[in-house]
Amino acid sequence: MIYIAIDGPAGSGKSSVASGLAKKLGFGHLNTGNIYRAVALLWLKAGQPEFSRDFFEMIDKKHFSAFDDAIIMDGEVHEEDLRTLEVGRVVSKVAEIPEIREIITKKSREIVKDGNFVVEGRDIGTVVLPDAFLKIFLTASVEERAKRRYKEIVSKGLKANFEDIISEIKERDSIDSSREVAPLKPASDAVIVLTDGLSLEDVIDKIYDLYTERIKSVEGSGC
Ligand code: CDP
Repeated sequence: MIYIAIDGPAGSGKSSVASGLAKKLGFGHLNTGNIYRAVALLWLKAGQPEFSRDFFEMIDKKHFSAFDDAIIMDGEVHEEDLRTLEVGRVVSKVAEIPEIREIITKKSREIVKDGNFVVEGRDIGTVVLPDAFLKIFLTASVEERAKRRYKEIVSKGLKANFEDIISEIKERDSIDSSREVAPLKPASDAVIVLTDGLSLEDVIDKIYDLYTERIKSVEGSGC
């Protein structure tokens, strides 16, 4: 199987890039952030209980699959309900829990085991798929990322406050980068792509070119 890992901070454009790239290559697309968000939603719905074995067992029993940017959990499609500010505010806290990371890592590997996939998240190149064929670390300035998130929310007819988005992104960056288990950081063999000022198509083309170059070099080396 061929895996392309796309990691990076909140709002760096991973989802649009991963989705476009997967379509261009005919690969599947898994957004692991949406599994963390689905678990955060379950936790909110359960009344934010203590993280205990009961909660972990409940998650472990859930069946997850991926359909483009959506996650199907026990047969139900989740997409818009995962992108609310409420879920955004708690998801990094949920993602700090090692038992939850272990379950989601296992489920992510199961989802991609039978196909070529573009997989996006925070720790794909470092933990989930350390042998990925190509690892990209996508990043952009906080302002650029907040602008994109703002546009995304407003384009869906929802209300958004720019300052709230900036503070949510900064808070998640700080929790995601400083946690002990699988912190957000580029894998040593990742290609860092800074997307400020680049269009979505520019970024997709850039990664596509990196991929084709790598394919050629692997074929050229007789592997
Ligand atoms: O779309 P955005 O980049 O804002 O975030 P996301 O990909 O939906 O991920 C939401 C949150 O899940 C992140 O802020 C991380 O706390 C967590 N996450 C993670 O810890 N590891 C992953 N592989 C994916 C997401």
